[in-house]
Amino acid sequence: MAKKTIIVSNRLPVTVNKNADNSLSFHPSSGGLATGLSTTYKQGGNLWIGWPGTYDHDQKEQEHIAKELKKDNMAPVFLTKNEVKKFYEGYSNKTLWPLFHYFTEYATYELDLWDAYVHVNQLFCNAILDHAEPEDTIWVHDYQLLLLPGMLRDALPNATIGFFQHIPFPSYEIFRLLPWRKETLDGVLGADLIGFHTYDDMRHFLSSVNRLLGYDSSLGLVKVKNRLVSVDAFPMGIDYDKFEQAADSSKTKQKVIAYGDLLSKNKSILSIDRLDYSKGIKHRLLGFDKFLSRYPEYQGVVSLILLVVPSRDKVDQYQHLKEEIDTLVGKVNGKYSRMNWSPIHYFYRSFSFEGLSALYKASDVALVTPLRDGMNLVCKEYVASKTDQQGVLILSEMAGAAKELSEAILINPNDENQIVDALYSALTMPEEEQRSRMKEMQKKVRRYNVHRWVEIFMNQLDNIKERQTAMNMR
Ligand code: G6P
Repeated sequence: MAKKTIIVSNRLPVTVNKNADNSLSFHPSSGGLATGLSTTYKQGGNLWIGWPGTYDHDQKEQEHIAKELKKDNMAPVFLTKNEVKKFYEGYSNKTLWPLFHYFTEYATYELDLWDAYVHVNQLFCNAILDHAEPEDTIWVHDYQLLLLPGMLRDALPNATIGFFQHIPFPSYEIFRLLPWRKETLDGVLGADLIGFHTYDDMRHFLSSVNRLLGYDSSLGLVKVKNRLVSVDAFPMGIDYDKFEQAADSSKTKQKVIAYGDLLSKNKSILSIDRLDYSKGIKHRLLGFDKFLSRYPEYQGVVSLILLVVPSRDKVDQYQHLKEEIDTLVGKVNGKYSRMNWSPIHYFYRSFSFEGLSALYKASDVALVTPLRDGMNLVCKEYVASKTDQQGVLILSEMAGAAKELSEAILINPNDENQIVDALYSALTMPEEEQRSRMKEMQKKVRRYNVHRWVEIFMNQLDNIKERQTAMNMR
């Protein structure tokens, strides 16, 4: 049987919804990962395995979902309500997410959440074993599945296993706070190739591997028992052509017209994120408040378009943050609004692809200021959408993307004054300078697009496997 490739991530590229009348509907996700990997998992016998986003389905519903997903080369891992609570909302998003984003005060360490994490990683492993052959290639994604490479290695010693972490890997001093730190590293090291977005994340990982497990590394290669594991940086890109083409499409132009005054009358600053404390939305609002007070000539002239996409709303910190953002937006709008002008246009919902494209295309400034971010693709989407090369990107140094996009105005998001100064520089930047900065960024984002990212990772995975085979034959 031909070798196949299995992609595994917590979420499938399709989400299942249970409607009020108990019928099921299927919604494709347009996320970057789904686009980048679509040519891979849709080919031949390849497959994508993951959670369809719901819980507690009876046997009949499970069969129906599995049958529908199979048509598109996908297979579900079903979770119960309790597993979603403890594995997804719990250990993944109350322990790992805050810790890995340096929010140590938010991280909770609870044994029953850890137990659920081990159990659900094992459920994923079992689901893969239902489909995998011993020599298949399996590419596991992200922090929800850190133990899976190790479990797969035990079950399929010869499989080719890749792992990519989409969020930061923290420095050793942070990582060692985790009670299950050794088990976690052992799990990840089951892979043949381990990828991070940045060189810094890769160094942090290798440092923890060395200090906690005692394995040395040289040029990103770690000898783990009789295996050679490669660790490297692969900065993820976007589907450049899709955003570039959309920006000049008639659908986007119609949207720009539909948004009317919001985009044409005033200068606009764009802010787009999932609702998350790592994104620095509060800091951004405080910075904008200070900007309007320091430069009153911009009152009535510039508006912030604030898109906050609902996310993880069962987790306390996310609920609390939502309230804080609502309050701050209210305060700023209450302070500066005029009868014919609002400083902030706030949307708490998702937007259509054309809607986003129109906002990217027509806004004067993008304000992307996470406190910590593995990569951040919003800034790359903004760059790709600027077909007339007019527009300024303000980007946090704490986003992985800052390593590549050095022509953006780079700022420390914790420094309100830097946000204020950056906004002023962006709004007064001469057109020629905007063009030359944008052009340089476009070259990089176009070249290192998501398809290239997949290709480079997959090639390197094959290479390391060949090296291992050669090593074992010696
Ligand atoms: C980040 C993570 C992804 C995750 C996404 C959405 O980008 O790296 O693994 O899927 O956020 O979060 P959610 O919790 O809704 O899956």
